[in-house]
Amino acid sequence: MKLEEFKNFDLDYNVCECFDVTLGELLEAIEEGYNSIEALMDRTDAGTACGLCRSVEEDKDGDRELHLEEILKFSKEN
Ligand code: FES
Repeated sequence: MKLEEFKNFDLDYNVCECFDVTLGELLEAIEEGYNSIEALMDRTDAGTACGLCRSVEEDKDGDRELHLEEILKFSKEN
């Protein structure tokens, strides 16, 4: 994914379907200093059930469009 594609997601986009965690909530947590996948999982519960929203590697069938890994990467580039 490229930064331009990332920017097309709305803040209310549901990144983690298991726990209904939105992009906005995750970006807020990153701003608060939860800036690793593990820290985001602890803070928001995102990624702690099926795990598909954690990274592209863990989402082999491409079920999720956006993953914690990419959000962390692009939030640092922004
Ligand atoms: S979609 Fe996030 S843990 Fe299942």
